Amino acid sequence: MWRLVPRKRKSSASEPEADPRRNGVVKVAARAIPEIEASVLPRHVAIIMDGNGRWAKKRHLPRIAGHRQGVEAVRRVSRAARAMGIEALTLYAFSSENWRRPEEEVGDLMGLLRHFIRSDLDELAEDNVRLKVIGDYRRFSPDLVEMIDGAMARTAANTGPLLAIALNYGSQAELVGVAREMARRVRDGEMAIDEIDAGGIEGLLDTHELPPLDLLIRTSGEQRLSNFLLWQAAYAELLFVDTLWPDFDGEALAEAVAAFGRRQRRFGGL
Ligand code: FPP
Repeated sequence: MWRLVPRKRKSSASEPEADPRRNGVVKVAARAIPEIEASVLPRHVAIIMDGNGRWAKKRHLPRIAGHRQGVEAVRRVSRAARAMGIEALTLYAFSSENWRRPEEEVGDLMGLLRHFIRSDLDELAEDNVRLKVIGDYRRFSPDLVEMIDGAMARTAANTGPLLAIALNYGSQAELVGVAREMARRVRDGEMAIDEIDAGGIEGLLDTHELPPLDLLIRTSGEQRLSNFLLWQAAYAELLFVDTLWPDFDGEALAEAVAAFGRRQRRFGGL
């Protein structure tokens, strides 16, 4: 039986209702995993969703089929994260390096993103989710930028969990942007060099509205950060799992959260 104790709920008696729309959540509830105490529930989980191409290749399908299943996994996992009481989920959907992929694949990914916003925004809004996009998404085509801005505006006043999608995101570019802004403020006499500190830098990161990153998961067996949340991961627990992203689901997330609960976090102390 599912024994996850959600952060904002009193007991496992308040497990999510079976809702035909929410397969992921129902599946999580059916799986036996160790009880996770609310106190060790990560507030902010980020995922490098890797392995769509390999998932498709194993099935002799085109890569787009893997990405399509990847979107299904996005749905399942974000629903499961909400049901668990995780405050923020950040998903790496398109890196600033992904432009190097064939034009057709880039176009397919943009198409899936458009489709996701069209088909899932109502549910996110109803679930009180605040949608955030991090990264330089303004380089996308104007209609997509408009859709993204509209989706963020529609959910901006929501008070529930945050779903952050990283689009045209690269951590180094994000940090370069922060350095430039700091330099500008010093040049314009708005602050002194000595006033530059970690808190000030964090306030200028794309993730400034998100809680500190607790758990960073990468699927598909690769063990690297690929320019994702480099600053934010300073004290995050890293978890590399072999599951290919299209196979990742609420159960896998629950297992990752349970593994996080077994880690000893010392933040440099003893
Ligand atoms: C990495 O797998 C995955 C990506 C570059 C794209 C991730 C995108 C999605 C899951 C779908 C879009 C998301 C939303 C929010 C609509 P890969 O293709 O590099 O896999 P491989 O290493 O096996 O080739």
